Amino acid sequence: MTTSSPLTVLVAGATGSVGRLVVAESIAHGHTTRALVRDAAKARRVLPAEAELVVADVTDPGSLKAAVTDADAVVLTLGSDGGAHSSPENVDYGGVRNILSALADRAPRIVLMTAIGITSRSTGYGHLLDWKRRSERLVRASGLPYTIVRPGWFDMNGPDEHRPLFLQGDTRRTGTPADGVIARQQIAQVLVQALTAPQAVGRTFELVAENGEALEDLDALFAALTPDAPGALDGTGDEENMPLDREPAHVRADLDALRDRTGTP
Ligand SMILES: NC(=O)c1ccc[n+]([C@@H]2O[C@H](COP(=O)([O-])OP(=O)(O)OC[C@H]3O[C@@H](n4cnc5c(N)ncnc54)[C@H](OP(=O)(O)O)[C@@H]3O)[C@@H](O)[C@H]2O)c1
Repeated sequence: MTTSSPLTVLVAGATGSVGRLVVAESIAHGHTTRALVRDAAKARRVLPAEAELVVADVTDPGSLKAAVTDADAVVLTLGSDGGAHSSPENVDYGGVRNILSALADRAPRIVLMTAIGITSRSTGYGHLLDWKRRSERLVRASGLPYTIVRPGWFDMNGPDEHRPLFLQGDTRRTGTPADGVIARQQIAQVLVQALTAPQAVGRTFELVAENGEALEDLDALFAALTPDAPGALDGTGDEENMPLDREPAHVRADLDALRDRTGTP
């Protein structure tokens, strides 16, 4: 396993079903771990006492400055809940955009969790997945060192399905657990190891489990991945079915703003 000095890690989505495991895993790795939360009382109930809390709302750009201060790394496991101000556009996409913007000239490692089947434009999740895919595009356009992890269906593993399998090209797109399953705890393990594995940088992959034992060290799996093409908006091998010239104007403007800030071509 790659070892390195402890980081200051910001987790957005920290009180969620995956985010809270990410916080615990990050603390277990010795990182100073800051949880971006909307509700401090809830956070104190579900997060380890060692977690630093910063109260913010990712739909409110003004609230994010303190959250990102001095962060060496940011893990994003946000999920909208369908409330009036919690649409996929506002949270799954807008939250990522607002955090990237709040970073200004800082250049932390970014680890973004999205979902398997993200390039499917035809399943019942199409709308949500399109916004998550646009958030991936923002991260790639940001020029920051990133890893994008697209997990399969949470915690639906059979009793012997523990061996992590990294896939690329997003070819499993039925929108059902047949596409792949993965334990939440293992997602947290992958997200946190990606923070310090040099071979994870610039990679996008689907994460599922197959029959076999869990692995402690994921470096060989990261090293076997194909990097995303420089300057590409999508992950390596992804179907080109979201042409930029048919994207909403404000989405194109968000991409341009991030590229302009970082000088990314
Ligand atoms: N279920 C599956 O099998 C599966 C598979 C692949 C991918 N996914 C995707 O994984 C994502 C995360 O899953 P999960 O189960 O961890 O989600 P979750 O339990 O609903 O957690 C979502 C997190 O986002 C936070 N959040 C939402 N709106 C926010 C805002 N405006 N500002 C700050 N934080 C905000 C929530 O905070 P609060 O606690 O304050 O609400 C919570 O911490 C989902 O988007 C889902 O689509 C799911």
